[in-house]
Amino acid sequence: MKNILVTGGAGFIGSNFIKFALQNSDYNIINFDKLTYAGNLENLSDISGDKHYTFVRGDICEKEDVVKVITGKKIDTVVNFAAESHVDRSILGSREFVHTNVMGTQNLLDISMKSDVSKYLQVSTDEVYGSLPEDMKEIKFTESTPITTNSPYSASKASADLLCNAYYHTHKFPVLITRCSNNYGPYQFPEKLIPLMIAKATDGEKLPVYGDGKNVRDWLYVEDHCSAIFEVLHKGNAGEVYNIGGNNEWYNIDIVKLILKLLGKTEEQITYVKDRPGHDRRYAIDSSKIQKELGWTPKHKFDEGISKTIGWYKKNESWWRKVMSGEYLNYYEKNYSTKL
Ligand code: NAD
Ligand code: DAU
Repeated sequence: MKNILVTGGAGFIGSNFIKFALQNSDYNIINFDKLTYAGNLENLSDISGDKHYTFVRGDICEKEDVVKVITGKKIDTVVNFAAESHVDRSILGSREFVHTNVMGTQNLLDISMKSDVSKYLQVSTDEVYGSLPEDMKEIKFTESTPITTNSPYSASKASADLLCNAYYHTHKFPVLITRCSNNYGPYQFPEKLIPLMIAKATDGEKLPVYGDGKNVRDWLYVEDHCSAIFEVLHKGNAGEVYNIGGNNEWYNIDIVKLILKLLGKTEEQITYVKDRPGHDRRYAIDSSKIQKELGWTPKHKFDEGISKTIGWYKKNESWWRKVMSGEYLNYYEKNYSTKL
């Protein structure tokens, strides 16, 4: 590996991954991003002058953009983070999710296969496995859990995974798939649970908890997700899926209460609102395959990771205030006006 194309590198996980890769290798990283509402070059301002880093604005759905970057930058490895990533947005409208997540992945696979790309990693999600029963804690998602999608977002991600699998089996194109649980950490867009609650708590506003607040998510610090992807790139077997997770299940309501406590706020700010339609009850990842076969383990304990994250949002208030203005406000009004 020499020249890695990171698509969606201006988003939350992609930007963290680029910094991780620059710190841990001398690969040339080419960040290819359309800069949708979720893409923000400020996330990378600290490394914009690095000689191993280049930004190219482009759309994974556009053939010309992708051909130009892959051939022009002599790309040998592709890591695809680019996606529409927010479940609530996919409920308000799924067209963009199918376009970007499915058609964009197909375009990337096709052009990568016909060029000199010799490794393609698809960053997928545990949401493709559907929902787990909340009372059977011994059951977790493994790599052989059947795909059962419940939201337009997860359906679009699963479709992309199936295409990856098809390109591996039909064309022998060396594809790797990772499926991670919920990430948290610096630079996460404040439409997602943890940064949204930090922002609302800071401003003394109501914290909207969906349904009974007893949905369960398995949280992983973003840097641990990045290190896992790095391991899979180096040691993973083509055609295989690797689950990534922190073995760290939390009820949403407990996360919200913890954030309020760490910010010195009271629980009076919590408000229960109408549930997300089709809301998956519980996610939990069994990551024993990547741990045993590739030797990966998460480094961050949750209490340390969440304190670090809250500290980052406190210190970088101007970052999230800027991204919460503009288009975000229209989305917030649309999503929450029927819930609150
Ligand atoms: P994000 O929404 O923060 O970032 C997505 C990035 O993709 C943005 O920079 C955006 O501009 C870019 N993008 C969107 N459409 C594009 C297009 N057509 N062409 C080029 N760039 C485009 O997302 P994230 O939370 O960083 O997630 C990154 C990936 O990881 C996604 O594929 C997501 O499904 C997956 N994932 C996320 C989580 C999580 O907890 N956030 C967990 C597991 C997997
Ligand atoms: O599991 C991996 C997935 O995690 C990724 O593939 C997705 O890209 C990412 O967005 C995330 O999906 P979730 O739907 O789990 O994350 P979100 O932060 O939107 O919500 C987490 C939980 O919190 C979920 O049960 C819904 C609940 N929630 C969320 C919001 C935004 C609330 O109760 N209130 C809210 O306002």
